[in-house]
Amino acid sequence: MARRKFVAGNWKLNLTIAEGTALVQGLAKALADKPTTAEVAVCPVALALNAVAQAAKGSPIGVGAQNIHWEEKGAFTGELSATLIKDAGATYVILGHSERRQYFGETDATVNKRLGAALKAGLVPIVCIGETLAERQGGKLEQVLSTQIKGALAGFTAEQLKTLVVAYEPVWAIGTGVTATTAQAQETHAFVRSVLRQVVGGLADEIRIQYGGSVKPDNAKEILSQPDVDGALVGGASLKVADFAAIIAGA
Ligand code: 13P
Repeated sequence: MARRKFVAGNWKLNLTIAEGTALVQGLAKALADKPTTAEVAVCPVALALNAVAQAAKGSPIGVGAQNIHWEEKGAFTGELSATLIKDAGATYVILGHSERRQYFGETDATVNKRLGAALKAGLVPIVCIGETLAERQGGKLEQVLSTQIKGALAGFTAEQLKTLVVAYEPVWAIGTGVTATTAQAQETHAFVRSVLRQVVGGLADEIRIQYGGSVKPDNAKEILSQPDVDGALVGGASLKVADFAAIIAGA
């Protein structure tokens, strides 16, 4: 089953509206000069989402949010719903990023609730999973990933999860300059797909599994050439047009 490669930039807490708009315009130009067969998205801060989506119109670049709340509306000060994010121009939403798990109390149970809201609103969810270095070194890699996947996807049918994207981001590789080796990435992605198969059966062969963690122009091509690596979720290197365009070219 051919899975279309999907490269997304997670801008995290970076870039003003003007900077984000300029970046997406620059990226659109780079992709016009050098078209790609990959699906491409950027995920700005929520405040810049609408402006970036407007600036990306007419280009092949989709726009995503970095999080959503699970409730639709009401007394939830400071939160943003799936429908508001979609209304602002988002097609995608990142869920359960390790930084949210680490700093903001995100759990598999809350990822599961957010996933429900994303699917209901018709957003494409990018569900993030990944182990810490201590977990990997302690022999817990498979247990951790399996628990995260099953927890996040609990209660949904394969039919509901048709658009699901999973991002495998080893916590020890995020922002550290250390990437998983190509072999580690392939092996872990194959394991993730085997767990997905337990949950959604044959759909597992169609679900894109992105790799994330210090993906750079010089390592992207090799990681992305692995059979079970279907794209990348890029942090730091997505903040520069030339670097992100080079990573996309490597897909
Ligand atoms: P870096 O590419 O900066 O390591 O970040 C990866 C990441 O967390 C993407 O979501």
